[in-house]
Amino acid sequence: MSDYDPRERLALFPDSTRIEPAVGGARLTIAGCDLAALAQSHGTPLYLYDQATLDAAVAEYREALARFYPGPSGITYAGKAFLCVAMAQWVQRQGLWLDCTGVGELRVAAAAGVRREQIVVHGVNKGSADVDAALAQAGTIVVDGLAEVRRLSALAEDQPALALPDVWLRVRPGLAVETHAHTQTGQKDSKFGMDWDEAAESVRICQQHGLPLTGLHFHQGSHFHDPEPIGPALDRTLDLVESLSADLGWQPRVICPGGGWGVAYHEDELPHPTVKEYVRFVGERLAEGCRGRGLPFPRLHLEPGRSIVAQAGVALYRVGAVKHTAGRRWLLVDGGLADNPRRALYGARYSALPVDGLERPASGPAWLGGPYCESGDILIEDLALPDIEPGELIAVPVSGAYQLSMASNYNGARKPAVLWLDEGRAHLIQERETLDDLIRRDRALPAG
Ligand code: LLP
Repeated sequence: MSDYDPRERLALFPDSTRIEPAVGGARLTIAGCDLAALAQSHGTPLYLYDQATLDAAVAEYREALARFYPGPSGITYAGKAFLCVAMAQWVQRQGLWLDCTGVGELRVAAAAGVRREQIVVHGVNKGSADVDAALAQAGTIVVDGLAEVRRLSALAEDQPALALPDVWLRVRPGLAVETHAHTQTGQKDSKFGMDWDEAAESVRICQQHGLPLTGLHFHQGSHFHDPEPIGPALDRTLDLVESLSADLGWQPRVICPGGGWGVAYHEDELPHPTVKEYVRFVGERLAEGCRGRGLPFPRLHLEPGRSIVAQAGVALYRVGAVKHTAGRRWLLVDGGLADNPRRALYGARYSALPVDGLERPASGPAWLGGPYCESGDILIEDLALPDIEPGELIAVPVSGAYQLSMASNYNGARKPAVLWLDEGRAHLIQERETLDDLIRRDRALPAG
């Protein structure tokens, strides 16, 4: 168990989070908003996104790219981390590109009016609805295997007037980054991407059929904290570029080493290496590799999700009951596994603060459990917290990425409401699901 130091934990929260004096002890505010009032009007569990933190994350990426990479650059936000219409609108306003995995995320992008040239489509096994939507809406399609290249070339042959999006090949450099096994993707036996022979064959097919092949992409995994393995992955990719250039006369205009930069979820992981350090490593390594091989600098396109959106998000829960079992103090809250499966899936370790009475001393470790019928429904284990009473609000920081996008309706849970916080204003961007939403897809049995 780590110590209870609210000011240290504050570093995990959005940039605009403050500890303000209040009647009954200090309380948390985010973007100047009173969290208790928001929970009162919108209910809990409630998710909050702070625009200032999102903007700052993008600015850090942009500044580092401009400073450490001499060629052109761009940023795609990986929509899988968190996507809804408002988020897609923010992406568009920021001038970022949006990575959509298939027709479902493309539907959200369309509703937000994201422009074609800003949309990149991914998918390891795109169905025909995904491909059709990509052709209709996307500026770039990242093909994941030879079968997909063949399919696109057949389409181009059948419909010569078809304007295809730019094509990038997703390759598999065969080097794993250090992260949970479930989120490693670049290793040799991964289901993603293509090996060097398949990439060469794909280039040949694209050339034969006049497909607009412009880029190479790889994504080594998600939530890594040391960029080192990206170095050899970039080197191998540049070796591939050299051989493709020599054998087939093709060079990519764009190289995208994916996303995956990690964040700190718990105060024990602070200080976390910065986005700037990560971008510096990638930018300098790519530039060196190109110089050493006499290659022109391609556009370096990064594709972060978590490192843009995780820290901007906070989940608010209300404590329903406090229970003591065999030496454990349980704070039973009104959300858990259904809105945040990350501890159950990856052993993710979160932190938390009470919203009110922050300056109370710690009274020992607490376990935050949810209301769902599964012992794995634990949000947080063994975290130092003060005495907490039923009815109090608990704020869990770093809740912006891969929580709502992986949320479920387990035990009939309704997906939470989401608020967008900006300079003292809170705007509802996603309503809480209703009980009727839970039966909207259901149809009765035929009369028996
Ligand atoms: N690009 C591609 C092709 C990806 O597959 C991903 C994430 C990203 C970019 C963005 O990675 P990020 O910067 O967000 O790490 N559910 C897991 C994470 C799965 C990531 C899947 N792909 C979690 O909750 O940790």
